[in-house]
Amino acid sequence: MSEDLKDYLDKTAEQVDMMLERYFSDAFGELYKASAHLLLAGGKRLRPAVLLLAAEAVRPGSSDDLMHAAIGLEMTHTFTLIHDDIMDGDATRRGAPTVHVKWDEPTAILAGDVLYAKAFEFITHAVADDRARVKAVAMLARTCAEICEGQHQDMAFEKAEKEVDAFEYLEMAGKKTGALYAASAAIGGVLAGGNAVQVDALYQYGMNAGIAFQIQDDLIDFIAPPEKSGKDRGSDLREGKQTLIAITAREKGLNLSKYRRPDLTPEEVDRAIAELKEAGVVDAVRRVAEEKVATAKHALTVLPECKERQHLEDLVEFFISRSF
Ligand code: IPE
Ligand code: IPE
Ligand code: MG
Ligand code: MG
Ligand code: MG
Repeated sequence: MSEDLKDYLDKTAEQVDMMLERYFSDAFGELYKASAHLLLAGGKRLRPAVLLLAAEAVRPGSSDDLMHAAIGLEMTHTFTLIHDDIMDGDATRRGAPTVHVKWDEPTAILAGDVLYAKAFEFITHAVADDRARVKAVAMLARTCAEICEGQHQDMAFEKAEKEVDAFEYLEMAGKKTGALYAASAAIGGVLAGGNAVQVDALYQYGMNAGIAFQIQDDLIDFIAPPEKSGKDRGSDLREGKQTLIAITAREKGLNLSKYRRPDLTPEEVDRAIAELKEAGVVDAVRRVAEEKVATAKHALTVLPECKERQHLEDLVEFFISRSF
Protein backbone atom coordinates (compact mmCIF):
# COMPACT_ATOMS: atom_id res chain seq x y z
CA MET A 1 0.00 0.00 0.00
CA SER A 2 1.29 3.50 -0.80
CA GLU A 3 2.38 5.66 2.15
CA ASP A 4 -0.17 8.21 1.05
CA LEU A 5 -3.09 5.76 1.23
CA LYS A 6 -1.82 4.36 4.52
CA ASP A 7 -1.75 7.89 5.98
CA TYR A 8 -5.24 8.54 4.68
CA LEU A 9 -6.63 5.32 6.20
CA ASP A 10 -4.88 5.94 9.52
CA LYS A 11 -6.15 9.50 9.70
CA THR A 12 -9.71 8.47 8.79
CA ALA A 13 -9.72 5.63 11.32
CA GLU A 14 -8.54 8.08 13.97
CA GLN A 15 -11.38 10.50 13.14
CA VAL A 16 -13.94 7.70 13.15
CA ASP A 17 -12.62 6.39 16.48
CA MET A 18 -12.77 9.87 18.02
CA MET A 19 -16.31 10.46 16.88
CA LEU A 20 -17.51 7.05 18.06
CA GLU A 21 -15.84 7.69 21.44
CA ARG A 22 -17.68 10.98 21.65
CA TYR A 23 -21.08 9.38 21.07
CA PHE A 24 -20.69 5.96 22.72
CA SER A 25 -18.04 6.01 25.45
CA ASP A 26 -20.44 7.07 28.22
CA ALA A 27 -22.92 4.28 27.44
CA PHE A 28 -25.23 3.73 30.38
CA GLY A 29 -26.77 0.36 31.24
CA GLU A 30 -25.81 -3.12 30.02
CA LEU A 31 -27.58 -2.94 26.64
CA TYR A 32 -25.84 0.27 25.59
CA LYS A 33 -22.53 -0.95 26.99
CA ALA A 34 -22.94 -4.10 24.89
CA SER A 35 -23.69 -1.97 21.80
CA ALA A 36 -20.62 0.18 22.37
CA HIS A 37 -18.28 -2.74 23.16
CA LEU A 38 -17.42 -3.83 19.62
CA LEU A 39 -17.88 -0.39 18.12
CA LEU A 40 -15.11 0.96 20.37
CA ALA A 41 -12.87 -2.12 20.06
CA GLY A 42 -11.21 -0.78 16.88
CA GLY A 43 -11.44 -2.28 13.43
CA LYS A 44 -10.06 -1.10 10.13
CA ARG A 45 -12.88 1.42 9.54
CA LEU A 46 -12.75 0.74 5.80
CA ARG A 47 -16.40 1.40 4.98
CA PRO A 48 -16.26 4.98 6.31
CA ALA A 49 -13.05 5.47 4.31
CA VAL A 50 -14.75 4.26 1.13
CA LEU A 51 -17.72 6.59 1.71
CA LEU A 52 -15.49 9.62 2.29
CA LEU A 53 -13.17 8.87 -0.65
CA ALA A 54 -16.14 8.38 -2.99
CA ALA A 55 -17.60 11.71 -1.89
CA GLU A 56 -14.28 13.53 -2.45
CA ALA A 57 -13.88 11.94 -5.87
CA VAL A 58 -17.29 13.29 -6.87
CA ARG A 59 -17.01 16.71 -5.27
CA PRO A 60 -13.74 17.88 -3.67
CA GLY A 61 -14.21 19.16 -0.14
CA SER A 62 -17.53 17.35 0.39
CA SER A 63 -16.35 14.73 2.85
CA ASP A 64 -16.10 17.06 5.87
CA ASP A 65 -19.91 17.24 5.93
CA LEU A 66 -20.34 13.49 5.77
CA MET A 67 -18.66 12.16 8.89
CA HIS A 68 -21.99 11.25 10.49
CA ALA A 69 -22.95 9.24 7.41
CA ALA A 70 -19.52 7.58 7.46
CA ILE A 71 -19.91 6.42 11.04
CA GLY A 72 -23.47 5.35 10.23
CA LEU A 73 -21.94 2.86 7.80
CA GLU A 74 -19.48 1.68 10.44
CA MET A 75 -22.38 1.17 12.87
CA THR A 76 -24.26 -0.85 10.26
CA HIS A 77 -21.16 -2.98 9.70
CA THR A 78 -20.66 -3.50 13.45
CA PHE A 79 -24.29 -4.54 13.89
CA THR A 80 -23.79 -7.23 11.24
CA LEU A 81 -20.61 -8.42 12.99
CA ILE A 82 -22.36 -8.81 16.36
CA HIS A 83 -25.10 -10.91 14.77
CA ASP A 84 -22.65 -12.78 12.52
CA ASP A 85 -20.61 -13.91 15.53
CA ILE A 86 -23.73 -15.45 17.07
CA MET A 87 -24.48 -17.28 13.81
CA ASP A 88 -20.87 -18.46 13.34
CA GLY A 89 -20.37 -19.34 17.00
CA ASP A 90 -17.24 -17.22 17.31
CA ALA A 91 -15.66 -16.06 20.56
CA THR A 92 -13.21 -13.34 19.49
CA ARG A 93 -13.69 -10.23 17.35
CA ARG A 94 -11.45 -7.18 17.00
CA GLY A 95 -9.21 -8.83 19.56
CA ALA A 96 -11.97 -8.74 22.18
CA PRO A 97 -14.56 -11.26 23.37
CA THR A 98 -17.66 -11.24 21.15
CA VAL A 99 -20.80 -9.61 22.52
CA HIS A 100 -22.76 -12.85 22.99
CA VAL A 101 -19.81 -14.33 24.90
CA LYS A 102 -19.20 -11.29 27.11
CA TRP A 103 -22.93 -10.82 27.73
CA ASP A 104 -25.41 -13.38 26.33
CA GLU A 105 -27.29 -14.03 23.08
CA PRO A 106 -30.42 -11.98 23.83
CA THR A 107 -28.26 -8.99 24.77
CA ALA A 108 -26.14 -9.43 21.64
CA ILE A 109 -29.20 -9.57 19.39
CA LEU A 110 -30.56 -6.40 20.96
CA ALA A 111 -27.17 -4.65 21.01
CA GLY A 112 -26.96 -5.27 17.26
CA ASP A 113 -30.49 -3.99 16.79
CA VAL A 114 -29.64 -0.77 18.63
CA LEU A 115 -26.73 -0.11 16.26
CA TYR A 116 -28.86 -1.03 13.27
CA ALA A 117 -31.43 1.62 14.25
CA LYS A 118 -28.88 4.26 15.21
CA ALA A 119 -27.10 3.87 11.88
CA PHE A 120 -30.13 5.33 10.13
CA GLU A 121 -30.33 8.16 12.62
CA PHE A 122 -26.69 9.03 11.89
CA ILE A 123 -27.17 8.92 8.12
CA THR A 124 -29.90 11.55 8.42
CA HIS A 125 -27.38 13.81 10.20
CA ALA A 126 -25.22 14.12 7.09
CA VAL A 127 -25.01 17.72 5.88
CA ALA A 128 -26.47 17.28 2.39
CA ASP A 129 -29.42 18.05 0.19
CA ASP A 130 -32.70 16.55 1.55
CA ARG A 131 -33.39 14.49 -1.55
CA ALA A 132 -29.90 13.05 -1.44
CA ARG A 133 -30.37 12.11 2.22
CA VAL A 134 -33.65 10.33 1.46
CA LYS A 135 -31.87 8.41 -1.31
CA ALA A 136 -29.05 7.50 1.05
CA VAL A 137 -31.48 6.22 3.69
CA ALA A 138 -33.37 4.17 1.09
CA MET A 139 -30.08 2.74 -0.19
CA LEU A 140 -28.99 1.73 3.29
CA ALA A 141 -32.37 0.13 4.04
CA ARG A 142 -32.21 -1.94 0.85
CA THR A 143 -28.65 -2.90 1.66
CA CYS A 144 -29.51 -4.15 5.14
CA ALA A 145 -32.18 -6.46 3.71
CA GLU A 146 -29.64 -7.69 1.16
CA ILE A 147 -27.09 -8.45 3.88
CA CYS A 148 -29.76 -10.53 5.66
CA GLU A 149 -30.35 -12.44 2.40
CA GLY A 150 -26.61 -13.06 2.04
CA GLN A 151 -26.21 -14.15 5.64
CA HIS A 152 -29.21 -16.45 5.28
CA GLN A 153 -27.66 -18.04 2.18
CA ASP A 154 -24.32 -18.36 4.00
CA MET A 155 -26.02 -20.31 6.79
CA ALA A 156 -28.24 -22.34 4.46
CA PHE A 157 -25.20 -23.41 2.39
CA GLU A 158 -23.71 -25.10 5.47
CA LYS A 159 -26.57 -27.59 5.46
CA ALA A 160 -27.31 -27.62 1.74
CA GLU A 161 -28.06 -31.07 0.34
CA LYS A 162 -27.03 -30.09 -3.14
CA GLU A 163 -23.43 -29.01 -3.76
CA VAL A 164 -22.97 -25.23 -3.74
CA ASP A 165 -21.15 -23.87 -6.80
CA ALA A 166 -18.90 -20.84 -7.38
CA PHE A 167 -21.73 -18.85 -8.94
CA GLU A 168 -23.88 -19.30 -5.83
CA TYR A 169 -20.95 -18.38 -3.60
CA LEU A 170 -20.32 -15.15 -5.52
CA GLU A 171 -23.98 -14.21 -5.26
CA MET A 172 -23.93 -14.84 -1.52
CA ALA A 173 -20.67 -12.90 -0.99
CA GLY A 174 -22.06 -10.02 -3.07
CA LYS A 175 -25.01 -9.81 -0.73
CA LYS A 176 -23.39 -10.36 2.64
CA THR A 177 -20.28 -8.22 2.02
CA GLY A 178 -20.33 -6.60 -1.44
CA ALA A 179 -23.61 -4.79 -0.80
CA LEU A 180 -22.31 -2.80 2.17
CA TYR A 181 -19.16 -1.66 0.33
CA ALA A 182 -21.37 -0.84 -2.68
CA ALA A 183 -23.66 1.20 -0.43
CA SER A 184 -20.71 2.94 1.25
CA ALA A 185 -19.33 4.12 -2.08
CA ALA A 186 -22.72 4.97 -3.60
CA ILE A 187 -23.99 6.79 -0.51
CA GLY A 188 -20.79 8.86 -0.47
CA GLY A 189 -21.44 9.70 -4.12
CA VAL A 190 -25.13 10.52 -3.60
CA LEU A 191 -24.56 12.75 -0.57
CA ALA A 192 -21.80 14.61 -2.41
CA GLY A 193 -24.26 15.38 -5.21
CA GLY A 194 -23.00 12.87 -7.78
CA ASN A 195 -25.02 12.12 -10.91
CA ALA A 196 -26.66 8.76 -11.68
CA VAL A 197 -23.75 7.53 -13.82
CA GLN A 198 -21.21 8.33 -11.10
CA VAL A 199 -23.32 6.80 -8.34
CA ASP A 200 -23.89 3.63 -10.34
CA ALA A 201 -20.16 3.36 -11.08
CA LEU A 202 -19.38 3.75 -7.39
CA TYR A 203 -21.93 1.08 -6.56
CA GLN A 204 -20.31 -1.33 -9.04
CA TYR A 205 -16.90 -0.47 -7.65
CA GLY A 206 -18.00 -1.27 -4.09
CA MET A 207 -19.82 -4.45 -5.04
CA ASN A 208 -16.82 -5.95 -6.85
CA ALA A 209 -14.35 -4.68 -4.27
CA GLY A 210 -16.51 -6.20 -1.53
CA ILE A 211 -16.61 -9.62 -3.17
CA ALA A 212 -12.81 -9.55 -3.50
CA PHE A 213 -12.65 -8.47 0.15
CA GLN A 214 -14.74 -11.47 1.21
CA ILE A 215 -12.61 -13.91 -0.80
CA GLN A 216 -9.54 -12.57 0.99
CA ASP A 217 -11.39 -12.78 4.32
CA ASP A 218 -12.00 -16.47 3.64
CA LEU A 219 -8.26 -16.94 3.03
CA ILE A 220 -7.43 -15.01 6.20
CA ASP A 221 -9.60 -17.47 8.13
CA PHE A 222 -7.00 -20.14 7.28
CA ILE A 223 -3.83 -18.11 7.36
CA ALA A 224 -3.92 -15.37 9.95
CA PRO A 225 -3.22 -16.06 13.61
CA PRO A 226 -5.85 -14.59 15.96
CA GLU A 227 -3.32 -12.01 17.26
CA LYS A 228 -3.21 -10.62 13.73
CA SER A 229 -6.84 -10.97 12.58
CA GLY A 230 -8.42 -10.34 15.99
CA LYS A 231 -10.84 -13.22 15.36
CA ASP A 232 -11.13 -17.01 15.63
CA ARG A 233 -8.88 -18.90 13.21
CA GLY A 234 -10.32 -21.80 11.21
CA SER A 235 -13.90 -20.81 12.00
CA ASP A 236 -15.10 -21.43 8.42
CA LEU A 237 -13.43 -24.84 8.31
CA ARG A 238 -14.89 -25.84 11.67
CA GLU A 239 -18.39 -24.73 10.62
CA GLY A 240 -18.21 -26.31 7.15
CA LYS A 241 -18.71 -22.97 5.35
CA GLN A 242 -19.15 -23.18 1.59
CA THR A 243 -16.46 -20.65 0.75
CA LEU A 244 -14.92 -20.34 -2.69
CA ILE A 245 -11.95 -22.16 -1.17
CA ALA A 246 -14.07 -25.13 -0.07
CA ILE A 247 -15.92 -25.21 -3.40
CA THR A 248 -12.72 -25.03 -5.47
CA ALA A 249 -11.13 -27.68 -3.25
CA ARG A 250 -14.04 -30.01 -3.86
CA GLU A 251 -13.82 -29.42 -7.60
CA LYS A 252 -10.15 -30.42 -7.42
CA GLY A 253 -11.00 -33.59 -5.54
CA LEU A 254 -10.07 -32.35 -2.07
CA ASN A 255 -12.60 -32.87 0.69
CA LEU A 256 -12.48 -30.45 3.62
CA SER A 257 -15.37 -32.03 5.48
CA LYS A 258 -12.99 -34.04 7.66
CA TYR A 259 -12.03 -30.73 9.29
CA ARG A 260 -15.62 -29.91 10.18
CA ARG A 261 -15.25 -30.42 13.94
CA PRO A 262 -15.74 -28.14 16.96
CA ASP A 263 -12.34 -29.14 18.44
CA LEU A 264 -10.23 -28.28 15.35
CA THR A 265 -6.60 -27.56 16.35
CA PRO A 266 -4.29 -24.90 14.84
CA GLU A 267 -2.07 -27.73 13.54
CA GLU A 268 -4.99 -29.14 11.58
CA VAL A 269 -5.73 -25.71 10.09
CA ASP A 270 -2.03 -25.57 9.07
CA ARG A 271 -2.39 -28.98 7.45
CA ALA A 272 -5.55 -27.93 5.60
CA ILE A 273 -3.94 -24.81 4.15
CA ALA A 274 -0.87 -26.81 3.10
CA GLU A 275 -3.16 -29.25 1.27
CA LEU A 276 -5.01 -26.35 -0.39
CA LYS A 277 -1.81 -24.66 -1.58
CA GLU A 278 -0.45 -27.93 -2.88
CA ALA A 279 -3.61 -28.60 -4.94
CA GLY A 280 -3.53 -25.10 -6.47
CA VAL A 281 -6.72 -24.05 -4.70
CA VAL A 282 -5.26 -20.90 -3.19
CA ASP A 283 -3.94 -19.70 -6.55
CA ALA A 284 -7.26 -20.39 -8.28
CA VAL A 285 -9.21 -18.50 -5.64
CA ARG A 286 -6.80 -15.56 -5.77
CA ARG A 287 -7.33 -15.33 -9.51
CA VAL A 288 -11.07 -14.88 -9.01
CA ALA A 289 -10.40 -12.11 -6.46
CA GLU A 290 -8.03 -10.42 -8.94
CA GLU A 291 -10.75 -10.42 -11.61
CA LYS A 292 -13.12 -8.68 -9.20
CA VAL A 293 -10.43 -6.12 -8.40
CA ALA A 294 -9.97 -5.36 -12.10
CA THR A 295 -13.75 -4.92 -12.55
CA ALA A 296 -13.92 -2.65 -9.50
CA LYS A 297 -11.11 -0.44 -10.78
CA HIS A 298 -12.58 -0.30 -14.27
CA ALA A 299 -15.87 1.02 -12.87
CA LEU A 300 -14.06 4.10 -11.55
CA THR A 301 -12.99 5.30 -14.99
CA VAL A 302 -16.13 7.47 -15.30
CA LEU A 303 -14.92 9.58 -12.35
CA PRO A 304 -12.51 12.49 -12.82
CA GLU A 305 -8.88 11.55 -12.31
CA CYS A 306 -7.86 12.67 -8.83
CA LYS A 307 -5.97 11.58 -5.74
CA GLU A 308 -9.10 10.08 -4.16
CA ARG A 309 -9.93 8.00 -7.22
CA GLN A 310 -6.36 6.70 -7.10
CA HIS A 311 -6.81 5.87 -3.42
CA LEU A 312 -9.98 3.91 -4.21
CA GLU A 313 -8.05 1.99 -6.86
CA ASP A 314 -5.17 1.25 -4.49
CA LEU A 315 -7.56 0.32 -1.72
CA VAL A 316 -8.95 -2.67 -3.64
CA GLU A 317 -5.41 -3.94 -4.14
CA PHE A 318 -5.03 -3.79 -0.37
CA PHE A 319 -8.32 -5.69 0.01
CA ILE A 320 -6.72 -8.77 -1.58
CA SER A 321 -3.20 -8.44 -0.18
CA ARG A 322 -4.08 -7.80 3.46
CA SER A 323 -3.52 -10.34 6.22
CA PHE A 324 -5.90 -8.82 8.80
C1 IPE B 1 -15.15 -8.44 8.60
O1 IPE B 1 -14.98 -7.14 8.14
C2 IPE B 1 -16.42 -9.01 8.07
C3 IPE B 1 -16.42 -9.23 6.64
C4 IPE B 1 -17.20 -8.60 5.85
C5 IPE B 1 -15.58 -10.22 6.07
P1 IPE B 1 -13.64 -6.31 8.39
O2 IPE B 1 -12.46 -7.16 8.06
O3 IPE B 1 -13.75 -5.00 7.71
O4 IPE B 1 -13.68 -6.11 9.97
P2 IPE B 1 -13.18 -4.90 10.87
O5 IPE B 1 -14.21 -3.83 10.75
O6 IPE B 1 -11.84 -4.44 10.42
O7 IPE B 1 -13.17 -5.47 12.26
C1 IPE C 1 -19.61 -12.17 7.39
O1 IPE C 1 -18.67 -12.98 6.78
C2 IPE C 1 -19.81 -10.90 6.73
C3 IPE C 1 -20.91 -10.16 7.37
C4 IPE C 1 -21.90 -9.73 6.68
C5 IPE C 1 -20.89 -9.89 8.80
P1 IPE C 1 -17.76 -13.82 7.78
O2 IPE C 1 -18.57 -14.60 8.73
O3 IPE C 1 -16.73 -14.51 6.99
O4 IPE C 1 -17.03 -12.63 8.59
P2 IPE C 1 -15.95 -12.87 9.72
O5 IPE C 1 -14.87 -13.72 9.15
O6 IPE C 1 -16.67 -13.53 10.85
O7 IPE C 1 -15.45 -11.49 10.03
MG1 MG D 1 -20.47 -15.44 8.82
MG1 MG E 1 -18.19 -14.82 10.87
MG1 MG F 1 -14.70 -14.77 7.54
